[in-house]
Amino acid sequence: MNVQGGRGGASMVEAGANADTEDRGPGRNVITLDGPAASGKSSAARLVAGRLGIPFVSSGLLYRVAAYLVEEMHGDPNDEGVVVRILTERRVRLVPSVAGDRILVDGRDVTAALHTDAVDAVVSAVARHRRVREWVRNRLREIPGSFVIDGRDMGTAVFPDARHKFYLTASAEVRARRRVGERSADLASVADAIRRRDRLDAAQSVPAEDAVHVETGELTLEQVVDRVMEALSEVGAV
Ligand code: CDP
Ligand code: CDP
Repeated sequence: MNVQGGRGGASMVEAGANADTEDRGPGRNVITLDGPAASGKSSAARLVAGRLGIPFVSSGLLYRVAAYLVEEMHGDPNDEGVVVRILTERRVRLVPSVAGDRILVDGRDVTAALHTDAVDAVVSAVARHRRVREWVRNRLREIPGSFVIDGRDMGTAVFPDARHKFYLTASAEVRARRRVGERSADLASVADAIRRRDRLDAAQSVPAEDAVHVETGELTLEQVVDRVMEALSEVGAV
């Protein structure tokens, strides 16, 4: 097994392309890192992907852009029909790359606007809808080649046959301390928002049975990445 299969370039993925549900075709390797908010999934996934020279994809960006567009259009995030209509009307593209994926809406790069308190507040409501989850799942399954992907249900619902699965954990307190520097709110509000999202995201956050668990509370980011690389190395993947 070798994860160097799908090296390199950015590829565009947008609504309408054929879904490919094969997670382990020849030369293809999907590595999943799931876990709750601020457990360090995307930071670790980016570094692991960098070490392997394959793209990194953050599945949360697709839910975040859905939430962002609903806010922009003053839609009701609890109304599945409204959310789906907005996603159908706008041209949303996910652009995976070794440097980290980007989200384009009608050609405009909105990635930098997706990690805000406002998006955090409504994203779980948007992510609850079955048809929104289907839309995200189909976009992700269209991504060709090998990549590292983070989220909640990458190792379960989206890429159940992925060869290498990880689940990162840390207490809500630790995660709030990590996140507080990245948001405008104070520690107590960030911790409340994280606990609220943990509750709302619980349905899609069950770890895969075959995931390697990494408790990150006492670890630096580099140590988490080393653990993941060691686990990959133990099974001969790198
Ligand atoms: O980085 P953080 O964990 O704060 O957020 P994220 O991974 O960008 O995910 C944002 C939100 O999208 C989550 O709170 C979930 O509501 C939703 N999400 C999901 O339902 N399933 C995924 N695979 C990824 C994200
Ligand atoms: O993607 P997710 O929401 O799970 O977390 P993140 O945005 O990758 O990480 C949140 C913050 O925690 C980042 O500033 C990381 O540098 C930091 N951090 C970490 O990810 N892992 C550790 N073991 C320690 C800190």
